[in-house]
Amino acid sequence: MKTFTTIILGGFLLAGGTPSAADDPAAGRKIANMCRTCHGIDGYAQVPIAPHIGGEPKAYLEAQLTAFKTGAREHEMMTVVTASLTAQQISDVAAWYSSHTAKASLAEGLSEEDAPEACVSCHGADGISVILDAPNLAGEVNIYIDTQLKAFRSGRRTHEIMSEVAAHLSDMEIRAVADWYSNVKLEITNSN
Ligand code: HEC
Ligand code: HEC
Repeated sequence: MKTFTTIILGGFLLAGGTPSAADDPAAGRKIANMCRTCHGIDGYAQVPIAPHIGGEPKAYLEAQLTAFKTGAREHEMMTVVTASLTAQQISDVAAWYSSHTAKASLAEGLSEEDAPEACVSCHGADGISVILDAPNLAGEVNIYIDTQLKAFRSGRRTHEIMSEVAAHLSDMEIRAVADWYSNVKLEITNSN
C-alpha cells in the first residue's frame, strides 16, 4: 500500500513538473479503441460486467488504471489491458474518457431525499460524484456495484474510505444501495 501511494504521488509530482507531458485526449481517443468493445468509445459500457467510465473524474480513472497495472486492484481483463500501457498512455486515455459529460436523471417518482444518506456526500444523490477521487455510480449495473462493495468489505479491493464504509454494510443494505444507483438513468455526451 505504501509503495502504491508513493507511485501515485510520484506520478502527480512528475505530471506537475513536466508541462510537455500534458494530457492529450486526442491521443487518448486512439487508445480508447482498445477499450471500446467493453466500455464504448464514449465510456458508456457495452457489456454488463464493465462499468460506465465516460465523464468520470480524470484523477479517479488514472488512479484505477494505475492500480490495475501495479496489481493493487485485480481483474482478469483489466490487469491484461493495463499491462501494456505506459503512464503517458494511461493519462491520455483517462483524459479522453473524462472529457465527456455524464448526466444523470432519477427515475420518475423518486426524489433525491430517498437516496442512501451514507453515500450522497461523495457520490451524490443521483450518482454523479461530488468529489474528484470518487467515481460516478449512476446507471452502473447493480451487480457491478454489489461486487465492488463486497470486494471492499472482504479486503479484495482496498481504499481507506470505502473499506470502512463497506465494513458496516449488510448484504441487504448493499443490495439496496446498488439498486438505488443502478436505477438512475445515465447519459454520456461527447463534449469535445
Ligand atoms: C474485455 C473487456 C474490457 C476491455 C477491453 C477494457 N476494460 Fe476496463 N473494465 C472491464 C471490466 C469487466 C471492469 C470491471 C473490473 C472489476 O470488476 O473490478 C473494468 C474496469 C475499468 C475501470 C475501473 C472503473 C471504475 O469505475 O472503477 C477503468 C478506469 C477501466 N476499466 C478503463 C479501461 C480502459 C481505459 C480500457 C482500454 C485501454 C479498458 N478499460 C479496456 C472490462 C474491460
Ligand atoms: C467520504 C466519501 C465517500 C462516501 C461517504 C462513500 N464513498 Fe464510495 N467511494 C469513495 C471513493 C473515494 C471511491 C474510490 C475508491 C478507490 O479509489 O478505489 C469510492 C468508490 C466506490 C465504489 C466503487 C465504484 C467503481 O466504479 O468501481 C462503489 C461501488 C462505492 N464507492 C459505493 C458507495 C456507497 C454505496 C456508499 C454509501 C453506502 C459510498 N460509496 C460512500 C468515496 C466515498
